[in-house]
This record gives sequence, C-alpha cells and structure tokens, in this order.
Amino acid sequence: QKALDMQGQKVLISAGPTKEMIDPVRFFTNRSSGKMGFALAEAAAERGADVTLVAGPVTIDAQHPAITRIDVVSAEEMYHVMNDQFADKDIVIKAAAVADYRPKEVHTSKMKKQEGDDVITLERTKDILKKLGERKENQFLVGFAAETDTPIEYGLGKLKKKNLDAIVVNDVSRQGAGFEGDTNIVTYINKKESVTDLQQATKKEIAVQLLDCILQDMKDDSI
Ligand code: PMT
Repeated sequence: QKALDMQGQKVLISAGPTKEMIDPVRFFTNRSSGKMGFALAEAAAERGADVTLVAGPVTIDAQHPAITRIDVVSAEEMYHVMNDQFADKDIVIKAAAVADYRPKEVHTSKMKKQEGDDVITLERTKDILKKLGERKENQFLVGFAAETDTPIEYGLGKLKKKNLDAIVVNDVSRQGAGFEGDTNIVTYINKKESVTDLQQATKKEIAVQLLDCILQDMKDDSI
C-alpha cells in the first residue's frame, strides 16, 4: 500500500481505442482493451490523486470514487475532451491507442456491397498528444509508444517530436506485453533520456512503478 503521496495532484489519463465510423454499422479501430490506462487511473486515485479518465469504447469499469470518467468514441471527440481538460492538470498520461486515420467520408446509411474490390479513402486524425505538447505549460506530459521494431529509437523520436516529459515504450511484439492481456513490459524514458526498464508485471504493478518514475522526475525537475 502506497502512502497518499499524490494528494492534491490533478491527473488526466486517456485509455482505450478510438472508433472511426465508416457507416452506421462499420468502423475502423485500434487494438486496446483500456486495461493499461485504467490501471494507471486506479493507481493514481489510490495514492490520493484527483483523476479524470477519458476512455474510448471499452468494456471495463473504473472502480475508484476519485476517478471521473468521460467516455468518447472517435479521435476527434477524444481530442476535444483532452484539450478542454488539460489546462488545470498536473500530470497528463496518454495511454490511449488513438486511430491515426479515419474515413474521409462517413456514410449516413449502410454502404451496399459492390462486385469486387472497394476503396475507402482515409484521412489523418489530429495527433492529440502532439497538440497537447505544443500548448504545455506546467503539466508533466507522458506519452505511450506502442512499437514492434526498434522500440527505443521510435520512442525517443516521439518524446522529442511531441515535446513530452517522458514516454512509456511498449514493445507490443513481446510475449506478456501490450494489448488486452493483464501484464505488460515497458521502458520509461524521460526527457533527459534516462532509461528505466520495468520487468513483466501486472498492468496495475506497472502503473504503480510508472507513477513512481513520474513523481521522481517531477521532484528532480523542481529542484
Ligand atoms: O489498453 P490495453 O489493452 O491495456 O493495451 C495497452 C496499450 C498497448 C494500448 C498501451 O500500453 C499503449 O502502448 N498505448 C499507446 C498506443 C498507441 O497508439 O501508440 P502510438 O505509438 O500509435 O502513439 C503514440 C502516442 O501518441 C500515444 O500516447 C497515443 O495516445 C498518442 N496519439 C497517437 C495518435 C493520435 N492521433 N493522437 C495521439 O494522441
């Protein structure tokens, strides 16, 4: 049991996938159960933080009374809620698996099957984390990077490009790590490029260790 060492801290966390509609019955999405983001929200709430959890479409529940949950569906909705919630937060963690593309045209009635192939044109969604990085003031901003090849290199690239204070690199090709399961294996890298490897553990235990890393870095930054 951790002490209430996050009392008075306002934490904003995003979790889960986003869903991008093609027509009323079909959509594009990303893999994510929301477990990693929900574990972070619960771990922070148990340490006394006031937590806002922005969740894409998931089937799990947030248990702690100190968690205010806001449900969203699309990347655009997640962007608006994260942007509205950002200003007064101390720590912002983006564990969500946001769709990078959405159909350019959303059909209002069900698309009819064609003979042979069909083409759906996709357009980029907003990069929520990058936009938050651009307007960051005192917030400690943490991204996740789900990677399959040279994860540390890509993670460092995202840390710099998105003006983050830290990134949690998730090599989703490893057994026991990544989407849907109850465990994860991650590497925490802060903006001084100090690297901390967290061994395989439950997502809740990983969440506790990530919060330890974040709180330590916030303390070091304030000296
Ligand atoms: O939910 P689980 O089943 O428990 O799985 C957990 C997880 C594997 C989804 C999680 O640990 C994780 O790695 N989340 C990030 C997934 C992801 O989309 O990574 P990315 O490398 O594509 O994005 C990098 C960062 O930019 C992420 O913080 C993401 O939230 C953010 N992003 C990405 C695209 C976009 N349009 N807007 C964003 O804000």
